[in-house]
Amino acid sequence: MSQDSLRLRRPEKDDLTNFLEWSNNKELQTVMGWEYPDSKDDLSNWLFDKVQNRNRYFFIIEYQKQAIGDIELCNISWRSGQAEIKICIADKAYWGRGLGKRALDLLLDKAFNTLNLKEVYLRVYAFNKRAIRCYEKTGFSLKGTLRRNDPNWNEIWLMSLTKSKFNRRNQIGA
Ligand SMILES: CC(C)(COP(=O)(O)OP(=O)(O)OC[C@H]1O[C@@H](n2cnc3c(N)ncnc32)[C@H](O)[C@@H]1OP(=O)(O)O)[C@@H](O)C(=O)NCCC(=O)NCCS
Repeated sequence: MSQDSLRLRRPEKDDLTNFLEWSNNKELQTVMGWEYPDSKDDLSNWLFDKVQNRNRYFFIIEYQKQAIGDIELCNISWRSGQAEIKICIADKAYWGRGLGKRALDLLLDKAFNTLNLKEVYLRVYAFNKRAIRCYEKTGFSLKGTLRRNDPNWNEIWLMSLTKSKFNRRNQIGA
């Protein structure tokens, strides 16, 4: 493994320390719209569920041998061939360096070409321009928006990518 390598790996017990640190990051909670559990016991149960659940593929994103975030395929519908993808690079120092796209490409390749899913979708806040740009670069396109007549509600975008589009883009090196 080269020093520059980025890989997805299954969570290990030692990762609890990373998640505890990430659970204190308020900026992450704002862009993600949810929080990591903030006690060691709750995190341990949360992680156990992620690893055991047959309808989830949850991975740690590791870069230069350091855990920098997590990525998962969840809400998998084997019948319709669809799943949701979620990603969080928790350490800000690693944002905007192309690592998000690389991690997405790795999991999407597994989703489409190993698990044989047909479509992967995601939800993202409309204000999260960095994430939206990253998803667009990866091939996702906007399918719809969720709005409410409430000033405290943040607009949500639903974006999706099909297997054929993903494989077409990767063949031509897009
Ligand atoms: C969202 C996330 C996964 C993206 O990963 P990343 O490694 O930062 O993304 P990339 O570097 O691959 O791509 C980001 C792109 O957004 C661009 N960008 C950054 N800030 C931007 C802004 N304010 N407006 C528009 N584009 C922006 C970058 O220039 C880059 O595009 P480029 O390669 O064309 O220059 C990562 O930033 C992250 O985990 N953030 C915190 C949690 C989060 O928001 N998760 C997503 C919830 S839906």
